[in-house]
Order: sequence, then structure tokens, then C-alpha cells
Amino acid sequence: MEKKTFYITTPIYYPNNNLHLGHTYTTIAADCLKRFKKLLGYDAYLVTGTDEHGQKLQNAANDAGMEPLEYIDGIVDSAKQLWNMLQIDYDVFQRSTDPVHEKMVQEIFKTLYDKGEIYKDTYKGHYCTPCESFWTDSQLNEGNCPDCGREVEYREEESYFFRLSAYRDKLLAYYDENPDFIKPNSRKNEMVNNFLKDGLDDLSVSRTNFDWGIKVPFDEKHVIYVWIDALTCYLSALGYLSEDDSRYQKYWPANVHLMAKEIVRFHVVIWPALLMALDLPLPKQVFAHGWILFDQDKMSKSKGNVVYAEPLIERYGVDALKYFVLREFTFGMDGNFTKEKFIQRLNSDLANDLGNLVSRTITMVEKYFGGIIPEPQLMEPVDEELKGIAVGVAQKVEDCMEELDYSGALEEIWTLVRRTNKYIDETAPWKLGKEENTQRLTTVLYNLSESIRVIAQLIEPFMGETSRRIGEQLGIQNAGWESTKVFGQIPAGTKVVRGDNLFQRLDVEKEVEILDKVMKDLIQQREREKEAAGKAPEKEGKPEVTIDDFSKLQFQVAEILECSPHPKADKLLVFQVKIGEEIRQIVSGIKKWYGPEDLIGKKVIAITNLKPVVLRGVESNGMILAAESGEDLTLLTVLEDIESGADIS
Ligand code: MSP
Repeated sequence: MEKKTFYITTPIYYPNNNLHLGHTYTTIAADCLKRFKKLLGYDAYLVTGTDEHGQKLQNAANDAGMEPLEYIDGIVDSAKQLWNMLQIDYDVFQRSTDPVHEKMVQEIFKTLYDKGEIYKDTYKGHYCTPCESFWTDSQLNEGNCPDCGREVEYREEESYFFRLSAYRDKLLAYYDENPDFIKPNSRKNEMVNNFLKDGLDDLSVSRTNFDWGIKVPFDEKHVIYVWIDALTCYLSALGYLSEDDSRYQKYWPANVHLMAKEIVRFHVVIWPALLMALDLPLPKQVFAHGWILFDQDKMSKSKGNVVYAEPLIERYGVDALKYFVLREFTFGMDGNFTKEKFIQRLNSDLANDLGNLVSRTITMVEKYFGGIIPEPQLMEPVDEELKGIAVGVAQKVEDCMEELDYSGALEEIWTLVRRTNKYIDETAPWKLGKEENTQRLTTVLYNLSESIRVIAQLIEPFMGETSRRIGEQLGIQNAGWESTKVFGQIPAGTKVVRGDNLFQRLDVEKEVEILDKVMKDLIQQREREKEAAGKAPEKEGKPEVTIDDFSKLQFQVAEILECSPHPKADKLLVFQVKIGEEIRQIVSGIKKWYGPEDLIGKKVIAITNLKPVVLRGVESNGMILAAESGEDLTLLTVLEDIESGADIS
């Protein structure tokens, strides 16, 4: 009989040789789900990949003096290496620069255009380069990008648009009819309230301001919007529209798209609307997990608060890391990473609870029965209780995993781990040994071995290596998920093989100190590597401009004549400045750093041909330039005295 399929995706990552623990969260969870589904008998399929187009990457390659693909090839490999290190069992690594993908995207675009779902118009709005998104006036947040908070620039340009507005009602109906489509439920309310309630605008789906992207096939001056390019990787990874689309036929629609919460909007609004427009089946579920925070802030390289997975894997093993992220954080909610908590959990759950259980049991089987698991002889009620708990865990894990409650699933398994340890204390096998109570000792050691067998099988999708190592010590191999639902499977007579401790107990303070240093060194090393490869360290820079762009701005020396606080805005000062013969008014947001008296008579630098703006009722004709770093700010001025109005070029 054909197995039921289960198609899982992770996001298609921006290529980055600095993927941090936050990025690994989705892949670890996706990999675990795949392994779990396989154990349940599904034909589970996992796709990940890299999202390689867009202006940011084009700029980064430019800075490095390389062609975009040459630049990206190098860093795609580092993502693959990290997934290998984490033992991620993916089936396809889909690159968005793969020619087969590019061809598919062009065909999709053409189909939508031919159907009238995509049309050409002019875009007027504000553009955020880091997000590669257009925003309308009302969408801006205090004049900045509502997604990342950075500055936007006003643009008017020809663009293709997708008729997203036509899908609002269909999307809402789909959400209602498919209550499991957006998970957790809180995300659904957020999406409806923030994006759909007040209607949807058509979506600009092409760009002409850069060319590192997939060209619109019938209008090559346009490249296709990166999110369309990236989302459709979920289809090209299955060979959709290629010569052999059998995997598409087999696995689509996706059972679950996994991701962190900030990109769920693209997956529950744009993605299903596009699929509807293409008459393709919709994914069954989009599950958004929370962020891994560091010091309560989103972990991100630009904030310098990253934790990398590699040193944790090298020092403590891949399973320790997987266990920690899946157990510590509730999938769907934000969770704070601390090195202390990491080491403490390793000590308590892995070294103490699990590691000790295995080593104590194997030691006793060796000591009392020469390493051979004995035939149980005399049962007592306490045995029944252990058995009852052991055989019931699998179903509880299945229930948790149905909701992607990884932490709950592990907690269920650890209930058995702890119960089994308690069983040792209750039955006190060392006493039975002393008393030469073989009848009970055989039963106790058999039950302990059997309980460990069940545990080894249960943890397999979460911690494959540990599961295998326990099997080796017990002298058995995992016999499948269903085998955990019956007690008494391990054959008496099996020879145990003592191995190294599964996990070491660690000194928390010492380890935290070591990790602090290792992490700091790694961050520095990666910066150096980047520089050595001709790559400037990642900065949140603006896109390159030509000298013509630059020469459009008029910079002049301005002498400050008067200054007063803005009548309605706390942060603003209103200046009267002299520029040559002209006196003009400029409003500037520097009140936090300068009082109205501080600057009278000073010569500063201003941009003098900016379109006037009215800031809370006061007109401003230009901008005074300042240098800013963190909390510090200082105005720009001239080294020697010079007439006001002097031109700066
Ligand atoms: N390229 C897009 C995804 C396109 S999918 C069609 C993208 N890439 S990304 O590399 O920036 O992010 C990949 C994933 O990592 C996203 O789900 C993102 O939210 C996640 N994370 C990045 N930092 C994170 C944390 N600190 N914590 C948890 N996940 C976070 O977005």
C-alpha cells in the first residue's frame, strides 16, 4: 500500500554565512517532525533552501567586488554545512537561482499575466530596501518601514501588480473553513486584524531599480518580486512545471509550512492568494513559531546579540542543542536563550535524569548478571505502575506532536524517564543484590532495561544520536514507534555493552564563562573571514548611488541666527539660519542633545534644496546634518571659518 505523504517546508533562507541559533530553530523543528512522521509510517518529505535574489545581495556582492552568484555560491555552502552538522534530514535544498526554478517562476508569472491576475501600472509609494517592500503613506510607522523600522525612500515607478485585493474575501472564507490553516490561533487573529480587516491593496510584484532577480519573461527591464520568487520554491522543489512533476503530484499540497512569526503574513496572505489565482491546492497549515530571544531582544547579528549553533554542537553534541531548543521554548511563543539555562537543562534533564538512568542500569546488569539482561521472575504492583506509564507515553507524544507541541512531547517522555529513576529508588536493586533476592532483582533489572528501550525509541525523532547510543549500550536496535506501546519486548538474554556516559555533568559558571569567550571569538573570527574574503562586514547600508544622484543634493554652510523650541513637539528645535543672503527656517529633531541657546552663531552644514515639509504645523526648509552613533549625536560644521552660503561638494 502507498504510504500517506507528509510535506514539510522550512523557510527558504537568505544566504548568510552567519546563520545563528534563531535560524536553526525552524530547521531543527522541521527535521524532528519529519523523523516523527516517518516513524508513524508516513512518506515524509522536507524541503529547505536559499532565497538568493534581491538588491541586498546584489549590493553585498558589489561591495565584495564579485558577481552575485559567485558571491552567493560561497555562502550557500556554509548553510549546507550547518544543516549537516545539525543532521537535518532534508530531501531537497532548493536554491532560488536554480535555472529550473527560474523557468518555473517565469511561467507562473506569465500564466498570471495572461489570466489578467497581473497587470502593469505605476507604483507610487515608499520603498524599504532592506525589506524590498513598498509601503503606502498610511502603512508607514512614524515615517519609517512598518516591518523593520528603518528609513524608506519615496519612489514612483512602473510596476506589475498582482490583484491581491480581489482575494480578501476568499482568504477570509478559507481561514474560516480551515481552522487549522493558521497556527497558533493567535496568529490568525493578528493577520485578520492587521492585514485583512480593512481590505487588501494590490501587490507590486516587479522591480526595476535593480536587476539581480528573475526577469519578467515578456518585459526584461522588470525583475520579479523576491517573495514570489521565494515562496514558489516550495513548488519548484517538487519539480512543478518541470519535465517530471511526479513529486509535485505526490507531495503537494504541503502539510505544513514552518517559519518564525514575522514572515507568516507572506505565507497566509500572498501565498494562498497566488495559489488560488493559479488554481492550485492550498497548503494545509502554516505554523509560525516565536523568536528565540537573547536578553529579551530578538537575536540578530546587527544587534550583536547572537548565539551560534556550531560551538554548542562542538562542545555538547548536536542532541543537547536539539533537546534544549525543542524542550525549553514553547513552539509558537518567544523564548529567551541564556547560556545558564542551557547548561542547567543539560545537567538536570540529560546528564542527571537520562544519562544516570542508563548508566546505573547498565552497571547493575553487568554487576549482578554479567551483562546479560535477565528473564523477569517475580512481579509486584510497583512494576505494573511503571509499565502502565511506559506504554501510554507514545499516544501522549502523538497528541502533542499533532499540535506541534514539541516541548509537551518531550515533557511526556521525561515523565517516564523520571518515573523510571523513581522505580530504581523504590525497588532499591542494590539491596536486592545484597539480600540475594534474585527473583525480584531479575524483574527490576528487566523492567529498567525495558523502560529504557521504550525511552530510546520515543526520543529517536528528537535526539537520533542519543537514541542510537542507548540502543548500542542495551544491545538492541529501535524496533519502531508501535513497539513502545507494548511492554516486555526486549529479549531476556540480550547482552548489554557499557559505553561512555551519554552526557557529562557540567559546572554551570565555568561553562558559561567558556561559552561567552568562544562565542565572542567566533563572532570576531567570522567578521575577519568576511573581510579577508574581500567582503565588507555586514552593515545596514543604503543602496549605491551614482554621482548624478549625489549631485542633485545641495549642501551649504548655514549660520544659526536664532533657535527656539518647537511649540508642539518635544524633540524638535526651530532654527532661523542664514544661507548667503537668505534667511530661512529649518526644523531639526536634536533637542535631546542641544538647548536653544547652545548653537547661536555656529556654522553648520545643511541640505538646502529639500522639498519643504510641515512638521507639526511648522514649516521646515532644509535639513541640518548631524553625525549619530548609538545615543550620541553631534552637528557637522566646518574646520575653518567660511562665509555662510558656501557651497559644499
Ligand atoms: N528568505 C525569507 C524566507 C522566505 S520563505 C519563502 C527569510 N529568510 S531569513 O533567512 O531571514 O529567515 C529565515 C527564518 O529564520 C525565518 O523564519 C525567520 O523568522 C527565522 N529567524 C530569524 N531570526 C530568528 C530568531 N531570533 N528566532 C527564531 N527564528 C528567527 O525570512
